[in-house]
Amino acid sequence: MIILFFISLITFVNSLSLKQVLLAIDCGGQESFNSKEGYLYQDDQYFSGDSRVSDYTYNDVVYAGIAYTFTPRVYFTERHGNSFDYSIPIIKDGQYTIILQFVELYFENEGDRQFDVFIGTNRILHNFSIIDNKHQKGYAKEVFIYIEIKDDKVFYNDQECSKGFVNGKLKIGFRKGAADLPKVDGIVIVKGHNAGEEEKNYLIDNWEQMLEENRKKEAELQRAELEAQNMIVPDQVEQDEGEGLFSFLLSPIGIGIIVFGMSVFGLLIFTGENEEQKNKNKKKNKSK
Ligand SMILES: *[C@@H]1O[C@H](CO)[C@@H](O)[C@H](O)[C@H]1NC(C)=O
Repeated sequence: MIILFFISLITFVNSLSLKQVLLAIDCGGQESFNSKEGYLYQDDQYFSGDSRVSDYTYNDVVYAGIAYTFTPRVYFTERHGNSFDYSIPIIKDGQYTIILQFVELYFENEGDRQFDVFIGTNRILHNFSIIDNKHQKGYAKEVFIYIEIKDDKVFYNDQECSKGFVNGKLKIGFRKGAADLPKVDGIVIVKGHNAGEEEKNYLIDNWEQMLEENRKKEAELQRAELEAQNMIVPDQVEQDEGEGLFSFLLSPIGIGIIVFGMSVFGLLIFTGENEEQKNKNKKKNKSK
């Protein structure tokens, strides 16, 4: 169980490696920074149209913590407006995944904000609400859009998105829908179609556990740093659970328990065989 959990954690952390991520934009952001997975978010660029930036860095919801992400900073700033586009340069033909990153920090209910997202003239999201049954206010939401770029054209679900790829630039449009204004927090372009959607769903379904595990890791890193600076002596470092269990099993008491357990198991098998033998003997006696 524990091992399975660690494997999923590792695949999650490795899911978006530096190589796969072609480009990441922190919409509304002023400075570039590194994501938890180690790829670079560029400051906001490639946008056009009627839009503005909002910075929620000192907002209560942000202060309480953005759920479902280990790179909350992406969600501190946003771009919103009546109608705006991002024109993102992509040089090579191939399969790509667009990850659109959103968080609702203003409205409370599903449907309070509903907008459309386009690639060229094709509508990909229709009356899209960031808040849904799994995402409340303050919960990071990612939408994975799988595309292919071929011969100066972009395809979504095998259909060409007209005007979606112009002069080597992928055109993503945000338009008003049924309620309020469209907004976006981050755009990540990943090479290929294996962009970590399953890992993301795992993270959402196991969020509390993942959060706790992340806290432990951070604390360990901090401790290691302090140790390196000779701030604390290694002896004071408490053992982590896994190591504790392992050394317990190797201790005299642990070995005693294992040996005892094995002998009880052996005894059970032995008596079981005895019963069988008795039954057989009974049958034999009867047939005589
Ligand atoms: C989206 O909202 C508009 C405006 O309320 C409405 O006319 C349209 O039917 C809605 N479309 C979908 C697919 O929900």
